[in-house]
Amino acid sequence: MDNVNAAFKWEYAPAPEAKDHARIKKQYDLFINGQWQKPASKKYFASFSPSTEEKLSEVAEANEKDVNTAVTAARTAYDKYWKKLSGAERAKYIFRIARVMQERSRELAVIETMDGGKPIRESRDFDIPTASNHFFYYAGWADKLNYAFPNRNPQALGVAAQIIPWNFPLLMAAWKIAPALATGNTVVLKPAESTPLTALKLAEIIEEADLPPGVVNIITGFGKTGAAMVNHPDVNKIAFTGSTDVGKLIQKAVAGTNKKLTLELGGKAANIVFEDAPIDQAVEGIVNGIFFNQGHVCCAGSRLFVQEGVADVVIRKLKERMDTLIVGDPLDKNTDIGAINSKEQLEKITSYLKIGVEEGLELYQSSHCHLPKKGFFCKPSLFIGAAQSSRVAQEEIFGPVLTIQTFRTIEEVIEKANNIPYGLSAGVWTDKGSKIFNLTTKLRAGVVWANTYNKFDPTSPFGGYKESGFGREGGLHGLHPYLRF
Ligand code: NAI
Ligand code: MG
Repeated sequence: MDNVNAAFKWEYAPAPEAKDHARIKKQYDLFINGQWQKPASKKYFASFSPSTEEKLSEVAEANEKDVNTAVTAARTAYDKYWKKLSGAERAKYIFRIARVMQERSRELAVIETMDGGKPIRESRDFDIPTASNHFFYYAGWADKLNYAFPNRNPQALGVAAQIIPWNFPLLMAAWKIAPALATGNTVVLKPAESTPLTALKLAEIIEEADLPPGVVNIITGFGKTGAAMVNHPDVNKIAFTGSTDVGKLIQKAVAGTNKKLTLELGGKAANIVFEDAPIDQAVEGIVNGIFFNQGHVCCAGSRLFVQEGVADVVIRKLKERMDTLIVGDPLDKNTDIGAINSKEQLEKITSYLKIGVEEGLELYQSSHCHLPKKGFFCKPSLFIGAAQSSRVAQEEIFGPVLTIQTFRTIEEVIEKANNIPYGLSAGVWTDKGSKIFNLTTKLRAGVVWANTYNKFDPTSPFGGYKESGFGREGGLHGLHPYLRF
């Protein structure tokens, strides 16, 4: 059947979100001690839109001296204001941040999409509301720490250095900053070099929320800036989300120091479909798990395991659904798959597509899918016939690339799913509750979704096993890494 939906797809008229209300300055300095400060490095670098390749703004590159100024500001703010405030008073500031974020959500969503390339539907409906929900949620804990950890007298650590990646720029900033403030710590945060703009907008929001100067400092730069934060002697806590390679470097750097560390690293999640699963729902969950958001998700369901009896039907339905996916302008409200975050990331994904083909796997990409001429885009891609040893089924690609393997028994799929260096998340699709409980106890993954995928909520903890890192973010568990007892 030549797909009916695919033909239908091209009848959508463009529906671009307006961007004239998004205020992006030509240049941003460092947000330190409640003020915008010129970098000691005197250097600035550009942030581009990966969908249009246009330069959006220039941001300061913080060097070691700037990092020191920011950490000193955070320490002074901790000693002078923040540690003296009651939890209830801290909560008022955090609530205020959440409310201003809500008020400015449209602008934040548009800037997130322009700077990072993700579809506006994703930033508007997921990233920004979830980010402000995180602040609302943790504001609620600020005066209840003694209830969260009864009889343990929880105390703040001091200064937290937080380094985040480019796949959920504002949401990761919220995941880091909200629990740090609720537990009474002060912060120096660095966004990723390709997506600094919403973090700088958050700095404006923090100004508007009138936080005492130095409680939150936001500095921009590359890996070197991050390394200077990690190595600064007056930092008490490091929170990092990003690649496993950098996570390992950070772990080495803090060994033998008194710094507390949480790492949220890569993933290669198994999404497991049993014969008794609701197949149409599962196909939608598979698509949501790997193709939406360009597969730029550490918990992306990038390894699909399908029980033999339904393999043919799942593959057929998946191909049909892939034919209807719209790849293109991320600001268009109909777009499913936006731009790959950077040229380097697109090159990495393209090299894996080549590897898979060289490994002899069948590659399916929709023939209806046409990529824009400008910008960094990738077709949703499916590798059929992957083996457990295929590199594309073992290594994190971080793009819209899915491998399919089949299985017969539960034991077999558990062994295959766990046979990987990562352990961040997994998905299970079945009609049987007992099968779900059986698998959730045996899958070595921090999060297991059942009959759904990529669901997030500020109240539930998230984090990994093995090379996916350690420590939890979100929920009551997310308070723990910012406290001593
Ligand atoms: P990365 O790990 O280099 O970057 C993440 C953050 O760490 C950025 O803010 C970066 O400036 C900072 N950083 C880099 N080197 C550092 C160092 N030595 N010390 C301290 N901070 C440092 O990730 P990158 O290069 O952008 O992406 C590479 C791969 O990592 C991706 O292809 C993907 O496989 C994976 N990745 C995983 C993420 C996750 O959420 N788990 C997020 C982003 C990337
Ligand atoms: Mg950018």
